[in-house]
Amino acid sequence: MNTNCAVILAAGEGTRMKSAKPKVLSEVLFKPMLDRIIDSVKSAGVEDICVVTGFQHELVEEHLDSSITTVFQAEALGTGHAVIQARDFIKSHTNANVLVINGDVALMDSETLNNALTFHTINRNTATVISAKVSDPAGYGRIVRNSRKELQCIVEEKQATDVQKIIREVNSGAYWFNCSVLLDALDSLTNKHKNPNKEYYFTDLIEIIVKKNLKADAYKAEDSNVILGVNTRIQLNEVTEILRKKILNKLMFNGVSIPCTDGIMISDDTIIGTDTLILPGTIIKNQSVIGSNCVIGPNSVVADSVIGDNVQFNSSQIESSRVGSDTKIGPFARIRPNCDIGKDILIGDFVELKNSQIGDSTKISHLTYIGDSTFGKNINVGCGCATVNFSGKIKSQTIVGDNAFIGCSTYMVAPVTIGENAYTAAGSVITEDVPDNALAIARSRQTVKKDWVNRTKPYRWQK
Ligand code: UD1
Ligand code: CA
Repeated sequence: MNTNCAVILAAGEGTRMKSAKPKVLSEVLFKPMLDRIIDSVKSAGVEDICVVTGFQHELVEEHLDSSITTVFQAEALGTGHAVIQARDFIKSHTNANVLVINGDVALMDSETLNNALTFHTINRNTATVISAKVSDPAGYGRIVRNSRKELQCIVEEKQATDVQKIIREVNSGAYWFNCSVLLDALDSLTNKHKNPNKEYYFTDLIEIIVKKNLKADAYKAEDSNVILGVNTRIQLNEVTEILRKKILNKLMFNGVSIPCTDGIMISDDTIIGTDTLILPGTIIKNQSVIGSNCVIGPNSVVADSVIGDNVQFNSSQIESSRVGSDTKIGPFARIRPNCDIGKDILIGDFVELKNSQIGDSTKISHLTYIGDSTFGKNINVGCGCATVNFSGKIKSQTIVGDNAFIGCSTYMVAPVTIGENAYTAAGSVITEDVPDNALAIARSRQTVKKDWVNRTKPYRWQK
């Protein structure tokens, strides 16, 4: 095949993360590093991707969609050994270029990959390392150049001399190769270094290729942040922070107000309208869309939801639901999946909604649970109401018509329908349908026992 391909190295144990899970599935702003890399590779126009799996390979394989090829590295014998496992995959692209990329370069973007490929092609390189100049090169392979600035080799930190350790140009762990040159060079790769695991360093290939008098060079990324590798949870925090700030800055640039960025995590797949104010402690993720002039937060979570304009969403959580314009939610409301909340609505404190439709201008102000229900427009729900939607076996529906008035502490035992303009008396347990315009009272009549206290002198009574 003549089309370019990519090999992503994801077999390492990620020991330094001290995790039972594969490192490449660790999330950077709610998306696994591996998915971020795959997205960047795909947006750089490379569709044919092979992932080398090893540690917890079932989890990684399960995570990947079927468009991705996987090969298994049975023993983690180093990055070079990992690429050898993908030999057949690379062989099927001999007339093209292959991008080899570590699975932990979480912020690598398609622009850098493309610029490096252009550099690789224009200069007729057989190998191009993506590098960057960093202030602290510790832990990275150093880019060693000769006096004519020509790339000679990559030296790993452990093998680097004191002089080499000072070099601030480092290897990103992403490289473009001419496929046939890479395949040839892989035959010469050995585990020559005195490291305890007898690892094959993929980075040794550069010296092998240079010694064959084939052209190899390094492309310096413009933004040195894109090359950061994640080996520890401290580095995971650092790359997340870089991405978080970048997204917040972009939102602010586009007219979203974020006067204090503390604890605000917004994923890069969300859309937020102008003049919306985001307050501290707020998480917005999973392709959420928020309109203009809203106030979201403090301390709120918006996941996979669409929120209209002029919405106030205070100290509340919403998942996989929709909210119309001019609605006020919270503080302390929880909106569980599949709710459609209309316009000009009030969902007040300690209200939980699930799988329900709420019509425009309805008010559910306090301490209420509504599940599996359809509520019409302009309804008033008093304090402390609940739909009794679960029999222990099945879930049933509650329907409430427009302009109904649900008295405080009404229990609506589903399936049940309350008609338009109907009232329920406070404290009612509604088990039968209530017709339009009716009042339903479903509680026992009050009994008053006159002078009962004086007659019976109950416990704790003193005079
Ligand atoms: C590697 C590079 C280093 C570079 C740095 C950039 C080597 C020898 N060194 O070092 O020059 O500056 O990345 O971040 O390549 N992996 C496997 N199988 C293995 C070992 C590793 O698939 O047997 C995978 C890991 O899952 C990881 C990637 O390869 O995604 C890199 O491995 P890692 O151990 O993180 O390499 P570094 O020490 O960071
Ligand atoms: Ca690494």
